[in-house]
Amino acid sequence: MAYNLLKGKKGIIFGALDRKSIAWKVAEKAYEEGAHIVLTNTPAAIRFGEIEELAKKTQSIIIPADATHVKEIENVYLKGMEFLDGKIDFVLHSIGMSMNVRKNRPYDDLDYDYFMKTLDISALSFHKIIQVAKKLDAINEWGSIVALSYIAAQRTLFRYNDMADAKAALESIARSFGYIYGREKKVRINTVSQSPTLTTAGSGVKGIDDLYDFTDRMSPLGNASAEECAGYIITLFSDLTRKVTMQNLYHDGGFSSMGMSARAMTMYSHSLNCEECAHKLEEEM
Ligand SMILES: NC(=O)c1ccc[n+]([C@@H]2O[C@H](COP(=O)([O-])OP(=O)(O)OC[C@H]3O[C@@H](n4cnc5c(N)ncnc54)[C@H](O)[C@@H]3O)[C@@H](O)[C@H]2O)c1
Repeated sequence: MAYNLLKGKKGIIFGALDRKSIAWKVAEKAYEEGAHIVLTNTPAAIRFGEIEELAKKTQSIIIPADATHVKEIENVYLKGMEFLDGKIDFVLHSIGMSMNVRKNRPYDDLDYDYFMKTLDISALSFHKIIQVAKKLDAINEWGSIVALSYIAAQRTLFRYNDMADAKAALESIARSFGYIYGREKKVRINTVSQSPTLTTAGSGVKGIDDLYDFTDRMSPLGNASAEECAGYIITLFSDLTRKVTMQNLYHDGGFSSMGMSARAMTMYSHSLNCEECAHKLEEEM
């Protein structure tokens, strides 16, 4: 059901790869809610993903850009404003990647070139996307910028690795830039800390299925899906949340406030009787 929450608004969506992507669901919902949008992703993602289909469905165009390159981001805003015929009202940063995670490098044996890439792609790109927008004066007053985060920014989660540091930086950028952009142009900046979600990026984390099951059992409302996440993000793009800024907002079914739930405890008690599983995990530590 649509509510026309974004009627007449214009937005740029970074990070839709395929139907599972959180950004894909946001693009679909933004369109349903009356927005005009532009999509962007890396040339490789455009080649191998399914984004053309999304562009057709949402009457948008795709502007290729590597979000670590300032010039390419500038091109996204300039071409985007041309296509949308004016300034932007919302921007989604839904970008993340760690080669250390992909290559199974543990946190105490990181490859530092990979680490720099993790930070550049998953955190600094957020700063670049905001800084370029501000310099070009590309965003209307009361505009809204949102990035996707994860609770590993606050709490250590086995195997999340250097992405945790990237998410901590991402959330900090939302606060630091949120102050400046809010003060000068009334643009708000927030991060949404989402439940584990079975997307391409999510599946890169080894053991995501077990983590997914654990957080689902721990959360009174269960894990939040990509589609539910998109619904929440639409409210942050809408005029109903104009005074929300510089926040990290949990969208996780209550997981972030839990210590132990009955459902998780039951599973844990069962697993204490499974010596083989426990042994396998101990070997990894
Ligand atoms: N899936 C989860 O469990 C989960 C949970 C919390 C937060 N998040 C965050 O949500 C965001 C979106 O991820 P997703 O789960 O939808 O997975 P996804 O794989 O669908 O999206 C990740 C996107 O990042 C893009 N990307 C990678 N390098 C890039 C670059 N240099 N320039 C531009 N784009 C680049 C990819 O092409 C892809 O579209 C990420 O920030 C991720 O960390 C995911």
